[in-house]
Amino acid sequence: MAIYPESFLSQIKDKVDIVDLISTYVNVQRKGRDYWACCPFHNEKTPSFQIRTDHQYYKCYGCQKAGNVFSFMMEHEKMTFPESVEFLAQKAGLEIPEQIIDKSYKKRRQELEKIYEINKAVAKFYFQNLTKPEGQTGLTYLLNRGLTWDTIQIFGMGYSYDFVSLPRYLNQIGYDNSSLVKAGVLTYDNTDFFGQRIIIPIISAQGKVLGFTGRSLEKNPDFAKYKNTGATLAFDKKKNLFGINLFKKFIHSNVRSVILVEGHMDVIALYQADIKNVVASMGTALTIEQCRHLKRYADLVYVAFDGDGAGQSAAMRSLDLLKEVGLEVKVVDIKDGLDPDDYVRKYGKDGFMKLLDKALPLIDFKLHKIKAKYKLDSYDNRTKYASEAIAVLSELDQLEGAVYVDEVSKNSGISKEILVEQAIEAKDKTIKKQVIPKTPIVKDISEDNAYLIAARFVLASILYAKNYVDIREIEKSYFVVDKHIALYDYIEECLRNATPPKISDVFDILENDTEGANVIDALEDKSILNPAEYYAQCVKKLKTDYINREIKNAVELLRTETDELKKKTLKERITQLTKKNK
Ligand code: UTP
Ligand code: MN
Repeated sequence: MAIYPESFLSQIKDKVDIVDLISTYVNVQRKGRDYWACCPFHNEKTPSFQIRTDHQYYKCYGCQKAGNVFSFMMEHEKMTFPESVEFLAQKAGLEIPEQIIDKSYKKRRQELEKIYEINKAVAKFYFQNLTKPEGQTGLTYLLNRGLTWDTIQIFGMGYSYDFVSLPRYLNQIGYDNSSLVKAGVLTYDNTDFFGQRIIIPIISAQGKVLGFTGRSLEKNPDFAKYKNTGATLAFDKKKNLFGINLFKKFIHSNVRSVILVEGHMDVIALYQADIKNVVASMGTALTIEQCRHLKRYADLVYVAFDGDGAGQSAAMRSLDLLKEVGLEVKVVDIKDGLDPDDYVRKYGKDGFMKLLDKALPLIDFKLHKIKAKYKLDSYDNRTKYASEAIAVLSELDQLEGAVYVDEVSKNSGISKEILVEQAIEAKDKTIKKQVIPKTPIVKDISEDNAYLIAARFVLASILYAKNYVDIREIEKSYFVVDKHIALYDYIEECLRNATPPKISDVFDILENDTEGANVIDALEDKSILNPAEYYAQCVKKLKTDYINREIKNAVELLRTETDELKKKTLKERITQLTKKNK
Protein backbone atom coordinates (compact mmCIF):
# COMPACT_ATOMS: atom_id res chain seq x y z
CA MET A 1 0.00 0.00 0.00
CA ALA A 2 1.33 3.35 -0.90
CA ILE A 3 1.56 5.89 1.82
CA TYR A 4 0.57 9.24 0.41
CA PRO A 5 1.55 12.21 2.51
CA GLU A 6 -1.54 14.04 3.68
CA SER A 7 -0.12 17.20 2.14
CA PHE A 8 -0.08 15.61 -1.30
CA LEU A 9 -3.67 14.41 -0.98
CA SER A 10 -4.65 17.88 0.23
CA GLN A 11 -3.06 19.45 -2.80
CA ILE A 12 -5.18 17.24 -5.02
CA LYS A 13 -8.32 18.06 -3.07
CA ASP A 14 -7.60 21.76 -3.39
CA LYS A 15 -7.23 21.53 -7.13
CA VAL A 16 -10.05 19.17 -8.04
CA ASP A 17 -13.39 20.75 -7.35
CA ILE A 18 -15.78 18.12 -6.08
CA VAL A 19 -18.76 19.69 -7.84
CA ASP A 20 -16.94 19.71 -11.19
CA LEU A 21 -15.87 16.14 -10.67
CA ILE A 22 -19.24 14.73 -9.69
CA SER A 23 -21.10 16.72 -12.31
CA THR A 24 -19.23 14.87 -15.04
CA TYR A 25 -21.05 11.75 -13.88
CA VAL A 26 -24.45 12.98 -12.71
CA ASN A 27 -26.61 16.02 -13.20
CA VAL A 28 -26.19 18.39 -10.31
CA GLN A 29 -28.32 21.33 -9.36
CA ARG A 30 -27.38 24.28 -7.30
CA LYS A 31 -29.50 25.04 -4.26
CA GLY A 32 -28.12 27.88 -2.22
CA ARG A 33 -24.56 27.20 -1.28
CA ASP A 34 -24.69 23.48 -1.99
CA TYR A 35 -25.37 21.22 -4.92
CA TRP A 36 -27.83 18.35 -5.13
CA ALA A 37 -28.16 15.36 -7.40
CA CYS A 38 -29.95 12.05 -7.68
CA CYS A 39 -27.64 9.72 -5.82
CA PRO A 40 -25.37 7.77 -8.17
CA PHE A 41 -25.07 5.00 -5.61
CA HIS A 42 -28.68 4.03 -5.18
CA ASN A 43 -31.75 4.39 -7.31
CA GLU A 44 -33.87 7.38 -6.63
CA LYS A 45 -36.02 9.87 -8.44
CA THR A 46 -35.70 12.89 -6.21
CA PRO A 47 -32.27 14.21 -5.29
CA SER A 48 -31.04 13.38 -1.82
CA PHE A 49 -27.36 13.46 -2.68
CA GLN A 50 -25.78 16.62 -1.37
CA ILE A 51 -22.44 18.09 -2.36
CA ARG A 52 -21.10 20.45 0.24
CA THR A 53 -18.94 23.07 -1.39
CA ASP A 54 -17.58 24.47 1.84
CA HIS A 55 -15.90 21.27 2.94
CA GLN A 56 -15.69 19.52 -0.41
CA TYR A 57 -17.53 16.35 0.43
CA TYR A 58 -20.72 14.60 -0.59
CA LYS A 59 -23.34 12.85 1.38
CA CYS A 60 -26.49 10.97 0.47
CA TYR A 61 -29.41 11.25 2.83
CA GLY A 62 -30.95 8.17 1.24
CA CYS A 63 -28.22 5.52 1.30
CA GLN A 64 -25.92 7.32 3.75
CA LYS A 65 -22.89 7.12 1.49
CA ALA A 66 -20.52 9.99 2.01
CA GLY A 67 -17.01 10.91 1.10
CA ASN A 68 -14.59 13.14 -0.73
CA VAL A 69 -13.20 13.17 -4.28
CA PHE A 70 -11.15 10.01 -3.68
CA SER A 71 -13.96 7.97 -2.24
CA PHE A 72 -16.22 9.16 -5.03
CA MET A 73 -13.91 7.74 -7.68
CA MET A 74 -13.43 4.55 -5.70
CA GLU A 75 -17.12 4.04 -5.25
CA HIS A 76 -18.29 5.22 -8.63
CA GLU A 77 -15.57 3.93 -10.92
CA LYS A 78 -14.59 0.98 -8.76
CA MET A 79 -11.05 2.29 -8.49
CA THR A 80 -8.66 1.31 -5.77
CA PHE A 81 -7.44 4.12 -3.55
CA PRO A 82 -4.09 4.44 -5.40
CA GLU A 83 -5.96 4.47 -8.69
CA SER A 84 -8.17 7.28 -7.49
CA VAL A 85 -5.11 9.21 -6.35
CA GLU A 86 -3.42 8.73 -9.69
CA PHE A 87 -6.52 9.64 -11.64
CA LEU A 88 -7.21 12.79 -9.65
CA ALA A 89 -3.57 13.82 -9.51
CA GLN A 90 -3.53 13.70 -13.28
CA LYS A 91 -6.72 15.76 -13.41
CA ALA A 92 -5.14 18.27 -11.07
CA GLY A 93 -1.97 18.35 -13.15
CA LEU A 94 0.13 17.03 -10.28
CA GLU A 95 2.91 14.47 -10.53
CA ILE A 96 2.87 11.64 -8.06
CA PRO A 97 6.27 11.54 -6.39
CA GLU A 98 7.92 8.41 -7.84
CA GLN A 99 8.82 6.84 -4.52
CA ILE A 100 5.24 6.64 -3.34
CA ILE A 101 3.67 5.02 -6.34
CA ASP A 102 2.08 1.88 -5.04
CA LYS A 103 4.07 -1.14 -6.12
CA SER A 104 1.22 -3.55 -6.72
CA TYR A 105 -0.70 -0.86 -8.53
CA LYS A 106 2.30 -0.10 -10.68
CA LYS A 107 2.61 -3.74 -11.58
CA ARG A 108 -1.05 -3.96 -12.52
CA ARG A 109 -0.77 -0.80 -14.54
CA GLN A 110 2.22 -2.20 -16.41
CA GLU A 111 0.37 -5.42 -17.15
CA LEU A 112 -2.55 -3.42 -18.43
CA GLU A 113 -0.36 -1.31 -20.68
CA LYS A 114 1.20 -4.51 -21.99
CA ILE A 115 -2.22 -5.92 -22.87
CA TYR A 116 -3.09 -2.73 -24.74
CA GLU A 117 0.15 -3.03 -26.62
CA ILE A 118 -0.45 -6.68 -27.48
CA ASN A 119 -4.02 -5.97 -28.53
CA LYS A 120 -2.85 -3.23 -30.83
CA ALA A 121 -0.36 -5.54 -32.51
CA VAL A 122 -3.01 -8.24 -32.77
CA ALA A 123 -5.54 -5.86 -34.33
CA LYS A 124 -2.96 -4.79 -36.87
CA PHE A 125 -2.13 -8.39 -37.73
CA TYR A 126 -5.77 -9.36 -38.27
CA PHE A 127 -6.42 -6.25 -40.32
CA GLN A 128 -3.43 -6.87 -42.55
CA ASN A 129 -4.61 -10.42 -43.18
CA LEU A 130 -7.38 -8.95 -45.30
CA THR A 131 -4.79 -7.87 -47.84
CA LYS A 132 -3.01 -11.24 -47.93
CA PRO A 133 -3.98 -14.08 -50.27
CA GLU A 134 -4.87 -16.29 -47.26
CA GLY A 135 -7.24 -13.63 -46.06
CA GLN A 136 -9.39 -13.28 -49.14
CA THR A 137 -12.18 -15.45 -47.72
CA GLY A 138 -12.53 -12.99 -44.88
CA LEU A 139 -12.45 -9.96 -47.09
CA THR A 140 -15.04 -11.46 -49.42
CA TYR A 141 -17.30 -12.18 -46.45
CA LEU A 142 -17.15 -8.55 -45.34
CA LEU A 143 -17.67 -7.16 -48.82
CA ASN A 144 -20.59 -9.53 -49.37
CA ARG A 145 -22.19 -8.14 -46.26
CA GLY A 146 -22.16 -4.78 -47.99
CA LEU A 147 -19.29 -3.21 -46.11
CA THR A 148 -16.96 -0.83 -47.91
CA TRP A 149 -13.19 -0.83 -47.53
CA ASP A 150 -13.53 2.52 -45.84
CA THR A 151 -15.81 1.12 -43.17
CA ILE A 152 -13.58 -1.90 -42.66
CA GLN A 153 -10.68 0.47 -42.04
CA ILE A 154 -12.56 2.82 -39.75
CA PHE A 155 -13.60 -0.08 -37.51
CA GLY A 156 -10.23 -1.78 -37.90
CA MET A 157 -11.91 -5.06 -38.79
CA GLY A 158 -9.85 -8.08 -39.70
CA TYR A 159 -9.69 -11.78 -40.25
CA SER A 160 -7.96 -14.74 -38.69
CA TYR A 161 -7.45 -17.38 -41.36
CA ASP A 162 -6.04 -20.11 -39.08
CA PHE A 163 -5.09 -20.94 -35.52
CA VAL A 164 -1.32 -20.75 -35.63
CA SER A 165 -0.25 -17.71 -37.63
CA LEU A 166 -1.08 -15.24 -34.90
CA PRO A 167 1.01 -16.86 -32.14
CA ARG A 168 3.85 -17.43 -34.60
CA TYR A 169 3.87 -13.78 -35.60
CA LEU A 170 3.57 -12.49 -32.04
CA ASN A 171 6.35 -14.77 -30.82
CA GLN A 172 8.53 -13.45 -33.61
CA ILE A 173 8.04 -9.86 -32.56
CA GLY A 174 8.90 -10.73 -28.98
CA TYR A 175 5.76 -11.66 -27.01
CA ASP A 176 5.74 -14.88 -25.02
CA ASN A 177 2.74 -17.14 -24.93
CA SER A 178 1.92 -16.60 -21.29
CA SER A 179 1.38 -12.87 -21.73
CA LEU A 180 -0.66 -13.57 -24.86
CA VAL A 181 -2.91 -15.92 -22.92
CA LYS A 182 -3.24 -13.24 -20.24
CA ALA A 183 -4.32 -10.76 -22.89
CA GLY A 184 -6.96 -13.22 -24.01
CA VAL A 185 -5.74 -13.58 -27.58
CA LEU A 186 -4.50 -17.16 -27.23
CA THR A 187 -6.26 -20.10 -25.64
CA TYR A 188 -4.47 -22.22 -23.08
CA ASP A 189 -3.09 -24.49 -25.77
CA ASN A 190 -1.45 -21.40 -27.29
CA THR A 191 -3.61 -21.27 -30.40
CA ASP A 192 -5.48 -18.26 -31.74
CA PHE A 193 -8.61 -17.72 -29.61
CA PHE A 194 -10.34 -16.17 -32.61
CA GLY A 195 -9.06 -18.63 -35.22
CA GLN A 196 -10.98 -18.62 -38.52
CA ARG A 197 -13.21 -15.75 -37.56
CA ILE A 198 -13.92 -12.24 -38.74
CA ILE A 199 -12.46 -9.86 -36.20
CA ILE A 200 -13.97 -6.73 -34.73
CA PRO A 201 -11.80 -4.90 -32.21
CA ILE A 202 -13.53 -3.34 -29.22
CA ILE A 203 -12.06 0.06 -28.58
CA SER A 204 -12.47 2.26 -25.54
CA ALA A 205 -13.52 5.89 -25.50
CA GLN A 206 -9.83 6.65 -25.02
CA GLY A 207 -8.91 4.72 -28.15
CA LYS A 208 -7.36 1.65 -26.50
CA VAL A 209 -8.01 -1.78 -27.97
CA LEU A 210 -9.67 -3.52 -25.03
CA GLY A 211 -10.45 -6.81 -26.67
CA PHE A 212 -12.07 -8.42 -29.68
CA THR A 213 -15.15 -10.05 -30.99
CA GLY A 214 -14.83 -12.79 -33.56
CA ARG A 215 -17.66 -13.80 -35.88
CA SER A 216 -17.83 -17.17 -37.49
CA LEU A 217 -18.11 -17.00 -41.27
CA GLU A 218 -21.10 -19.26 -41.32
CA LYS A 219 -24.48 -17.61 -41.48
CA ASN A 220 -26.04 -19.48 -38.58
CA PRO A 221 -23.44 -21.81 -37.10
CA ASP A 222 -24.43 -24.41 -34.53
CA PHE A 223 -21.55 -23.26 -32.34
CA ALA A 224 -21.05 -19.73 -31.00
CA LYS A 225 -21.65 -17.26 -33.82
CA TYR A 226 -19.73 -14.62 -31.90
CA LYS A 227 -16.90 -15.08 -29.46
CA ASN A 228 -15.73 -12.27 -27.21
CA THR A 229 -12.46 -11.81 -25.37
CA GLY A 230 -12.83 -13.34 -21.93
CA ALA A 231 -12.36 -11.25 -18.80
CA THR A 232 -8.88 -9.72 -18.81
CA LEU A 233 -7.37 -6.76 -17.01
CA ALA A 234 -8.39 -4.67 -20.02
CA PHE A 235 -11.72 -6.17 -20.98
CA ASP A 236 -14.92 -6.32 -18.99
CA LYS A 237 -18.01 -7.02 -21.01
CA LYS A 238 -20.19 -5.40 -18.39
CA LYS A 239 -18.43 -2.09 -18.67
CA ASN A 240 -17.80 -1.58 -22.35
CA LEU A 241 -20.00 -0.44 -25.14
CA PHE A 242 -19.09 -1.23 -28.70
CA GLY A 243 -18.73 1.86 -30.87
CA ILE A 244 -18.20 4.32 -28.03
CA ASN A 245 -14.87 5.47 -29.53
CA LEU A 246 -16.50 6.61 -32.76
CA PHE A 247 -19.67 7.83 -31.13
CA LYS A 248 -17.59 10.01 -28.85
CA LYS A 249 -16.01 11.74 -31.84
CA PHE A 250 -19.38 12.37 -33.31
CA ILE A 251 -21.04 14.04 -30.36
CA HIS A 252 -19.22 17.33 -30.75
CA SER A 253 -22.24 18.57 -32.63
CA ASN A 254 -25.35 19.28 -30.66
CA VAL A 255 -26.75 15.81 -31.01
CA ARG A 256 -27.31 14.57 -27.52
CA SER A 257 -29.00 11.39 -28.64
CA VAL A 258 -27.67 7.92 -29.16
CA ILE A 259 -29.04 4.81 -30.82
CA LEU A 260 -28.54 1.68 -28.79
CA VAL A 261 -28.44 -1.57 -30.75
CA GLU A 262 -27.67 -5.16 -29.84
CA GLY A 263 -25.03 -6.18 -32.33
CA HIS A 264 -21.66 -5.04 -33.58
CA MET A 265 -22.77 -5.40 -37.16
CA ASP A 266 -25.72 -3.12 -36.46
CA VAL A 267 -23.38 -0.37 -35.32
CA ILE A 268 -21.14 -0.85 -38.32
CA ALA A 269 -23.99 -0.89 -40.85
CA LEU A 270 -25.65 2.20 -39.41
CA TYR A 271 -22.34 4.02 -39.31
CA GLN A 272 -21.74 3.21 -42.95
CA ALA A 273 -25.21 4.53 -43.73
CA ASP A 274 -24.13 7.83 -42.15
CA ILE A 275 -25.99 7.30 -38.89
CA LYS A 276 -23.09 7.68 -36.55
CA ASN A 277 -24.49 8.12 -33.08
CA VAL A 278 -24.72 4.39 -32.42
CA VAL A 279 -23.39 2.03 -29.78
CA ALA A 280 -24.05 -1.66 -29.06
CA SER A 281 -24.65 -3.44 -25.81
CA MET A 282 -23.05 -6.55 -27.36
CA GLY A 283 -26.01 -8.83 -26.87
CA THR A 284 -26.32 -8.68 -23.08
CA ALA A 285 -28.52 -6.76 -20.67
CA LEU A 286 -27.05 -3.37 -19.83
CA THR A 287 -25.40 -2.63 -16.53
CA ILE A 288 -25.85 0.56 -14.58
CA GLU A 289 -22.25 1.49 -15.38
CA GLN A 290 -22.91 1.31 -19.10
CA CYS A 291 -26.01 3.43 -18.69
CA ARG A 292 -24.12 6.07 -16.75
CA HIS A 293 -21.42 6.02 -19.35
CA LEU A 294 -23.98 6.83 -22.00
CA LYS A 295 -25.50 9.55 -19.88
CA ARG A 296 -22.22 11.40 -20.06
CA TYR A 297 -22.69 11.84 -23.77
CA ALA A 298 -26.41 11.75 -24.36
CA ASP A 299 -29.78 12.78 -23.00
CA LEU A 300 -31.93 10.67 -25.26
CA VAL A 301 -31.50 7.00 -26.16
CA TYR A 302 -33.24 5.32 -29.04
CA VAL A 303 -33.33 1.66 -28.23
CA ALA A 304 -33.27 -0.27 -31.48
CA PHE A 305 -33.15 -3.91 -30.47
CA ASP A 306 -33.79 -6.73 -32.90
CA GLY A 307 -37.42 -7.46 -33.79
CA ASP A 308 -39.16 -8.15 -30.53
CA GLY A 309 -35.92 -7.67 -28.59
CA ALA A 310 -36.95 -4.75 -26.43
CA GLY A 311 -39.92 -6.71 -25.12
CA GLN A 312 -37.73 -9.39 -23.52
CA SER A 313 -37.50 -9.08 -19.79
CA ALA A 314 -33.71 -8.63 -19.76
CA ALA A 315 -34.04 -5.85 -22.29
CA MET A 316 -36.89 -4.33 -20.29
CA ARG A 317 -34.61 -4.06 -17.29
CA SER A 318 -32.05 -2.33 -19.48
CA LEU A 319 -34.69 0.19 -20.50
CA ASP A 320 -35.56 0.91 -16.89
CA LEU A 321 -31.90 1.31 -15.99
CA LEU A 322 -31.42 3.81 -18.81
CA LYS A 323 -34.34 5.77 -17.48
CA GLU A 324 -33.03 5.57 -13.95
CA VAL A 325 -29.78 7.27 -14.83
CA GLY A 326 -31.81 10.14 -16.24
CA LEU A 327 -31.85 9.32 -19.92
CA GLU A 328 -34.99 9.82 -21.95
CA VAL A 329 -35.79 6.48 -23.54
CA LYS A 330 -37.54 5.88 -26.83
CA VAL A 331 -38.12 2.46 -28.27
CA VAL A 332 -37.73 1.84 -31.97
CA ASP A 333 -39.98 -0.77 -33.50
CA ILE A 334 -38.20 -2.53 -36.33
CA LYS A 335 -40.73 -4.34 -38.44
CA ASP A 336 -40.54 -7.72 -40.21
CA GLY A 337 -38.21 -9.32 -37.67
CA LEU A 338 -35.25 -7.44 -39.11
CA ASP A 339 -32.32 -6.09 -37.14
CA PRO A 340 -30.96 -2.55 -37.68
CA ASP A 341 -28.26 -3.90 -39.99
CA ASP A 342 -30.81 -5.65 -42.25
CA TYR A 343 -33.18 -2.72 -42.06
CA VAL A 344 -30.77 0.01 -43.03
CA ARG A 345 -29.42 -2.04 -45.91
CA LYS A 346 -32.94 -2.61 -47.17
CA TYR A 347 -34.48 0.82 -46.56
CA GLY A 348 -31.45 3.09 -46.34
CA LYS A 349 -30.71 6.00 -44.04
CA ASP A 350 -34.06 7.66 -44.70
CA GLY A 351 -35.95 4.50 -43.90
CA PHE A 352 -34.15 4.13 -40.63
CA MET A 353 -34.58 7.80 -39.71
CA LYS A 354 -38.31 7.38 -40.23
CA LEU A 355 -38.26 4.57 -37.70
CA LEU A 356 -36.58 6.89 -35.23
CA ASP A 357 -39.26 9.50 -35.78
CA LYS A 358 -41.88 6.95 -34.94
CA ALA A 359 -40.07 5.63 -31.85
CA LEU A 360 -42.31 5.35 -28.80
CA PRO A 361 -41.56 6.95 -25.46
CA LEU A 362 -40.86 4.24 -22.90
CA ILE A 363 -44.24 4.59 -21.18
CA ASP A 364 -46.15 4.25 -24.45
CA PHE A 365 -44.06 1.28 -25.36
CA LYS A 366 -44.76 -0.48 -22.09
CA LEU A 367 -48.49 0.24 -22.28
CA HIS A 368 -48.60 -1.05 -25.85
CA LYS A 369 -46.88 -4.24 -24.81
CA ILE A 370 -49.38 -4.85 -22.05
CA LYS A 371 -52.27 -4.09 -24.34
CA ALA A 372 -51.01 -6.52 -26.95
CA LYS A 373 -50.58 -9.16 -24.28
CA TYR A 374 -54.18 -9.10 -23.07
CA LYS A 375 -56.14 -8.31 -26.22
CA LEU A 376 -58.87 -6.65 -24.07
CA ASP A 377 -61.59 -8.90 -25.38
CA SER A 378 -63.01 -9.93 -22.00
CA TYR A 379 -63.67 -8.33 -18.64
CA ASP A 380 -61.07 -10.58 -17.09
CA ASN A 381 -58.41 -9.53 -19.59
CA ARG A 382 -59.25 -5.86 -19.19
CA THR A 383 -58.80 -6.13 -15.44
CA LYS A 384 -55.43 -7.85 -15.87
CA TYR A 385 -54.48 -5.19 -18.38
CA ALA A 386 -55.46 -2.44 -15.96
CA SER A 387 -53.53 -3.83 -13.05
CA GLU A 388 -50.31 -4.07 -15.06
CA ALA A 389 -50.94 -0.71 -16.66
CA ILE A 390 -51.37 0.89 -13.24
CA ALA A 391 -47.85 -0.24 -12.32
CA VAL A 392 -46.56 1.53 -15.43
CA LEU A 393 -48.61 4.65 -14.77
CA SER A 394 -47.18 4.83 -11.29
CA GLU A 395 -43.78 5.57 -12.84
CA LEU A 396 -45.09 8.87 -14.17
CA ASP A 397 -44.10 12.00 -12.32
CA GLN A 398 -47.37 13.73 -13.07
CA LEU A 399 -50.39 11.46 -12.98
CA GLU A 400 -53.27 13.86 -13.10
CA GLY A 401 -54.22 14.89 -16.57
CA ALA A 402 -51.75 12.54 -18.19
CA VAL A 403 -52.87 11.33 -21.61
CA TYR A 404 -51.80 7.85 -20.61
CA VAL A 405 -54.40 7.68 -17.87
CA ASP A 406 -56.99 8.59 -20.46
CA GLU A 407 -55.82 5.84 -22.71
CA VAL A 408 -55.75 3.16 -20.02
CA SER A 409 -59.17 4.28 -18.87
CA LYS A 410 -60.60 3.96 -22.36
CA ASN A 411 -59.01 0.56 -22.89
CA SER A 412 -59.99 -0.92 -19.57
CA GLY A 413 -63.30 0.80 -18.87
CA ILE A 414 -62.04 1.82 -15.42
CA SER A 415 -62.56 5.45 -14.49
CA LYS A 416 -59.63 7.84 -14.56
CA GLU A 417 -60.10 8.74 -10.91
CA ILE A 418 -59.74 5.16 -9.78
CA LEU A 419 -56.70 4.62 -12.00
CA VAL A 420 -54.97 7.70 -10.64
CA GLU A 421 -55.79 6.71 -7.09
CA GLN A 422 -54.40 3.22 -7.53
CA ALA A 423 -51.33 4.44 -9.36
CA ILE A 424 -50.57 6.85 -6.54
CA GLU A 425 -50.95 4.02 -4.07
CA ALA A 426 -48.56 1.86 -6.11
CA LYS A 427 -46.12 4.74 -6.31
CA ASP A 428 -46.18 5.25 -2.54
CA LYS A 429 -45.44 1.58 -2.08
CA THR A 430 -42.39 1.65 -4.34
CA ILE A 431 -41.11 4.79 -2.66
CA LYS A 432 -41.49 3.15 0.75
CA LYS A 433 -39.61 0.12 -0.52
CA GLN A 434 -36.72 2.30 -1.63
CA VAL A 435 -36.29 4.14 1.63
CA ILE A 436 -33.27 2.82 3.44
CA PRO A 437 -33.61 3.12 7.19
CA LYS A 438 -31.32 5.68 8.68
CA THR A 439 -29.22 4.97 11.71
CA PRO A 440 -31.39 6.24 14.53
CA ILE A 441 -30.21 9.42 16.12
CA VAL A 442 -30.42 9.09 19.85
CA LYS A 443 -30.31 12.32 21.73
CA ASP A 444 -30.33 10.86 25.19
CA ILE A 445 -26.69 10.31 25.92
CA SER A 446 -27.43 8.10 28.88
CA GLU A 447 -28.27 5.25 26.57
CA ASP A 448 -26.12 2.32 25.53
CA ASN A 449 -24.64 3.84 22.44
CA ALA A 450 -23.96 7.05 24.31
CA TYR A 451 -20.24 6.66 23.78
CA LEU A 452 -20.63 6.65 20.02
CA ILE A 453 -22.92 9.64 20.01
CA ALA A 454 -20.72 11.63 22.35
CA ALA A 455 -17.46 10.77 20.59
CA ARG A 456 -18.87 11.62 17.19
CA PHE A 457 -20.25 14.93 18.34
CA VAL A 458 -17.01 15.90 20.05
CA LEU A 459 -14.82 14.93 17.09
CA ALA A 460 -17.11 16.69 14.66
CA SER A 461 -17.12 19.84 16.76
CA ILE A 462 -13.33 19.84 16.77
CA LEU A 463 -13.14 19.20 13.03
CA TYR A 464 -15.58 22.00 12.30
CA ALA A 465 -13.62 24.20 14.69
CA LYS A 466 -16.69 25.18 16.65
CA ASN A 467 -16.13 28.12 18.96
CA TYR A 468 -17.31 26.19 22.03
CA VAL A 469 -14.44 23.71 21.72
CA ASP A 470 -11.50 23.88 24.07
CA ILE A 471 -9.10 21.30 22.72
CA ARG A 472 -7.10 21.18 25.97
CA GLU A 473 -10.05 19.49 27.64
CA ILE A 474 -9.88 16.51 25.32
CA GLU A 475 -7.61 13.53 25.82
CA LYS A 476 -6.76 10.75 23.45
CA SER A 477 -7.74 8.14 26.01
CA TYR A 478 -11.32 9.36 25.89
CA PHE A 479 -11.68 7.48 22.63
CA VAL A 480 -12.02 3.75 22.47
CA VAL A 481 -12.98 3.05 18.87
CA ASP A 482 -10.04 2.67 16.45
CA LYS A 483 -11.51 5.06 13.92
CA HIS A 484 -11.98 7.73 16.57
CA ILE A 485 -8.45 7.30 17.84
CA ALA A 486 -7.17 7.68 14.28
CA LEU A 487 -9.15 10.90 13.93
CA TYR A 488 -7.88 12.19 17.22
CA ASP A 489 -4.29 11.47 16.11
CA TYR A 490 -4.94 13.35 12.91
CA ILE A 491 -6.35 16.34 14.76
CA GLU A 492 -3.41 16.34 17.12
CA GLU A 493 -0.99 16.25 14.21
CA CYS A 494 -2.74 19.17 12.55
CA LEU A 495 -2.60 21.20 15.71
CA ARG A 496 1.06 20.42 16.12
CA ASN A 497 1.68 21.70 12.60
CA ALA A 498 -0.62 24.64 13.16
CA THR A 499 -2.85 23.72 10.24
CA PRO A 500 -6.57 23.45 10.77
CA PRO A 501 -8.00 19.94 10.39
CA LYS A 502 -10.13 19.43 7.32
CA ILE A 503 -13.46 17.69 7.06
CA SER A 504 -12.68 16.16 3.72
CA ASP A 505 -9.57 14.50 5.14
CA VAL A 506 -11.73 12.38 7.39
CA PHE A 507 -12.56 9.98 4.59
CA ASP A 508 -8.93 9.34 3.79
CA ILE A 509 -7.90 8.83 7.36
CA LEU A 510 -10.71 6.38 7.91
CA GLU A 511 -10.24 4.76 4.52
CA ASN A 512 -13.82 5.55 3.65
CA ASP A 513 -15.23 3.72 6.58
CA THR A 514 -18.85 4.74 7.15
CA GLU A 515 -17.84 5.96 10.57
CA GLY A 516 -16.38 8.99 8.81
CA ALA A 517 -19.83 9.99 7.65
CA ASN A 518 -21.27 9.32 11.09
CA VAL A 519 -18.76 11.72 12.61
CA ILE A 520 -19.38 14.40 10.03
CA ASP A 521 -23.12 14.02 10.35
CA ALA A 522 -23.04 14.38 14.08
CA LEU A 523 -23.53 18.13 13.96
CA GLU A 524 -26.45 17.90 11.58
CA ASP A 525 -28.96 16.86 14.17
CA LYS A 526 -31.40 19.76 14.15
CA SER A 527 -32.97 18.71 17.42
CA ILE A 528 -29.88 19.76 19.31
CA LEU A 529 -30.92 23.26 20.25
CA ASN A 530 -27.89 24.29 22.20
CA PRO A 531 -24.81 22.70 20.66
CA ALA A 532 -22.43 24.22 23.20
CA GLU A 533 -24.29 22.71 26.09
CA TYR A 534 -24.69 19.42 24.29
CA TYR A 535 -20.98 19.40 23.58
CA ALA A 536 -20.21 19.92 27.26
CA GLN A 537 -22.42 16.95 28.10
CA CYS A 538 -20.68 14.82 25.52
CA VAL A 539 -17.24 15.72 26.82
CA LYS A 540 -18.38 14.94 30.33
CA LYS A 541 -19.69 11.59 29.20
CA LEU A 542 -16.40 10.69 27.51
CA LYS A 543 -14.42 11.83 30.51
CA THR A 544 -16.56 9.93 33.03
CA ASP A 545 -16.37 6.78 30.98
CA TYR A 546 -12.63 7.15 30.75
CA ILE A 547 -12.22 7.62 34.50
CA ASN A 548 -14.49 4.69 35.26
CA ARG A 549 -12.46 2.53 32.92
CA GLU A 550 -9.28 3.59 34.69
CA ILE A 551 -10.74 2.95 38.14
CA LYS A 552 -11.90 -0.48 37.03
CA ASN A 553 -8.43 -1.28 35.73
CA ALA A 554 -6.76 -0.12 38.91
CA VAL A 555 -9.17 -2.12 41.06
CA GLU A 556 -8.50 -5.18 38.91
CA LEU A 557 -4.74 -4.76 39.34
CA LEU A 558 -5.09 -4.17 43.07
CA ARG A 559 -6.83 -7.51 43.51
CA THR A 560 -3.86 -9.49 42.26
CA GLU A 561 -1.03 -7.20 43.32
CA THR A 562 1.18 -8.48 46.15
CA ASP A 563 3.88 -5.84 46.27
CA GLU A 564 2.90 -3.46 49.07
CA LEU A 565 4.45 -0.37 47.55
CA LYS A 566 2.68 -0.92 44.28
CA LYS A 567 -0.56 -1.56 46.14
CA LYS A 568 -0.21 1.79 47.83
CA THR A 569 0.31 3.61 44.53
CA LEU A 570 -2.72 1.91 43.03
CA LYS A 571 -4.89 2.89 46.01
CA GLU A 572 -3.76 6.50 45.69
CA ARG A 573 -4.56 6.44 42.02
CA ILE A 574 -8.06 5.12 42.69
CA THR A 575 -8.70 7.89 45.22
CA GLN A 576 -7.45 10.49 42.78
CA LEU A 577 -9.57 9.18 39.94
CA THR A 578 -12.67 9.01 42.13
CA LYS A 579 -12.15 12.63 43.11
CA LYS A 580 -11.76 13.59 39.46
CA ASN A 581 -15.01 11.90 38.71
CA LYS A 582 -17.03 14.20 40.93
P1 UTP B 1 -27.37 -11.51 -33.17
O1 UTP B 1 -27.57 -12.98 -33.17
O2 UTP B 1 -28.57 -10.64 -33.32
O3 UTP B 1 -26.29 -11.21 -34.26
O4 UTP B 1 -26.62 -11.14 -31.83
P2 UTP B 1 -26.14 -9.97 -35.23
O5 UTP B 1 -25.68 -8.80 -34.49
O6 UTP B 1 -27.37 -9.82 -36.06
O7 UTP B 1 -24.95 -10.47 -36.12
P3 UTP B 1 -24.99 -11.00 -37.62
O8 UTP B 1 -25.71 -9.98 -38.38
O9 UTP B 1 -25.66 -12.33 -37.60
O10 UTP B 1 -23.55 -11.10 -37.94
C1 UTP B 1 -26.51 -9.83 -31.37
C2 UTP B 1 -25.28 -9.68 -30.55
O11 UTP B 1 -25.25 -10.64 -29.53
C3 UTP B 1 -23.93 -11.06 -29.27
C4 UTP B 1 -23.05 -10.31 -30.20
O12 UTP B 1 -22.57 -9.15 -29.53
C5 UTP B 1 -24.00 -9.92 -31.30
O13 UTP B 1 -23.55 -8.79 -32.02
N1 UTP B 1 -23.76 -12.51 -29.50
C6 UTP B 1 -24.57 -13.16 -30.36
C7 UTP B 1 -22.73 -13.16 -28.88
O14 UTP B 1 -21.99 -12.58 -28.06
N2 UTP B 1 -22.55 -14.50 -29.12
C8 UTP B 1 -23.33 -15.18 -30.01
O15 UTP B 1 -23.10 -16.38 -30.22
C9 UTP B 1 -24.37 -14.49 -30.62
MN1 MN C 1 -27.58 -9.12 -38.01
